[in-house]
Amino acid sequence: MIKAVRGTRDLLPPDTALWNFVEAAVREVFRAYNFQEIRTPIFEETALFARGVGEDTDIVAKEMYTWEDRSRAASEKGQSLTLRPEATAGIVRAYIENKMWDRGLNKLYLIGPMFRRERPQKGRYRQFYQIDAEVIGPASAGSDSPARDAEILEMLATLLDRLGITDWNLELNSVGCPNDRAKFNEALRQALEPVKDKMCADCQRRAVTNPLRVFDCKVPEDQPIIEKLPRISQFLDEPCRKHFEAVKEILRAVGVDFRENDRLVRGLDYYTRTAFEFTHGALGAQNAILGGGRYDGLSEALGGPAAPGIGFAIGEDRLVMSLKETAEGVLRNPEVYVAPMAAMNVEAARLARELRRHDLVVELGDDAFRLKKSFEAATRVGAKYILIVGENEVKAGAFALKNLATGEQIAVARAELAEAIRSGRV
Ligand code: HAM
Repeated sequence: MIKAVRGTRDLLPPDTALWNFVEAAVREVFRAYNFQEIRTPIFEETALFARGVGEDTDIVAKEMYTWEDRSRAASEKGQSLTLRPEATAGIVRAYIENKMWDRGLNKLYLIGPMFRRERPQKGRYRQFYQIDAEVIGPASAGSDSPARDAEILEMLATLLDRLGITDWNLELNSVGCPNDRAKFNEALRQALEPVKDKMCADCQRRAVTNPLRVFDCKVPEDQPIIEKLPRISQFLDEPCRKHFEAVKEILRAVGVDFRENDRLVRGLDYYTRTAFEFTHGALGAQNAILGGGRYDGLSEALGGPAAPGIGFAIGEDRLVMSLKETAEGVLRNPEVYVAPMAAMNVEAARLARELRRHDLVVELGDDAFRLKKSFEAATRVGAKYILIVGENEVKAGAFALKNLATGEQIAVARAELAEAIRSGRV
């Protein structure tokens, strides 16, 4: 039997209703903050991610699905392509390619699948979904302002509240600007020199190529060493420190709780200044429900003009997982099951059509079913009522409507059926 590839999965009903519920709430909340949707391709040139996300990151070094294109056109032949592991690099590419600086400040969001060859486990998949949002534009449009950072974080708090998710923590840090990081990396290199041989193979490599990435290490034995390393907070210059203070001041003023965590450096190289993650208690090891931060130099690194930006990506799979406990009331079962008696499929189809026009969720049975089977089917789909459609009922213009939970039954005139079902008075 052919099965779904390891790390991929089918999303089935009724769970898909939760996904739709989340996406509808996202679109509504984002709309209130004037974000608009962007859709970019699912694959891009490999170089985009290598340059954007960074060669030394786990994502680029180990996790990308990359292949050589077999196009016949000489110009494309052998081109290295990659399934997008994240959305930010593609959105910034689109910003540059479409000269979107002409629009001033761009507030964009994207919902879609991402691909990383990670070891699958609870909350970690090889095809997973992100809800990504980015604010990007020329500095003259205010894209570098701490007000943008705070607005995004406040929007996320609003969204999670709206979804009924209360058990979250916002971890906040500033990773400074490239100058601060150069000094920090140098200090890390020195601090790691005497101890790196005791660390895992990845950290030994990171200590040489990109010491900051040591903070991505999950190996338990390495943690006591990492705990004693210098922190980025000691290396922030005055403008970065002020920027960070301004973000925190607004957050306090609008009542968004956060916890400062100067170990948080995030697993992608493009970050500058504000970096953050929201974690959720019920998720276990993969507890980061979303992550993001500022990337003031990314556009230039990709060959574009200066364009400060900030954004985040929510792991939609994880968001839906954390929602399950609070998800009651999201699912809409059929309000009514229309059960045709023998040779009544035509009449039943007519009636179902009338009821659906009144925006009711209607499940339609089959006249080959005996009454008992219709009741069983109605119960299985979770219908609230069953409506019996027999010859006598059609002639009389009145139908038996039965509440499946209470067993109560009344006769209702055709014209009043929709209202009777909606009002729930039976
Ligand atoms: P990231 O931290 O790599 O950031 O991913 C963001 C979120 O995607 C994570 O917090 C997690 O919820 C989810 N996620 C990541 N990998 C997986 C996986 N294998 N399975 C399930 N969920 C996963 C970024 O991708 C940045 N582009 C975010 C960003 C946008 N920064 C600025 N703008």
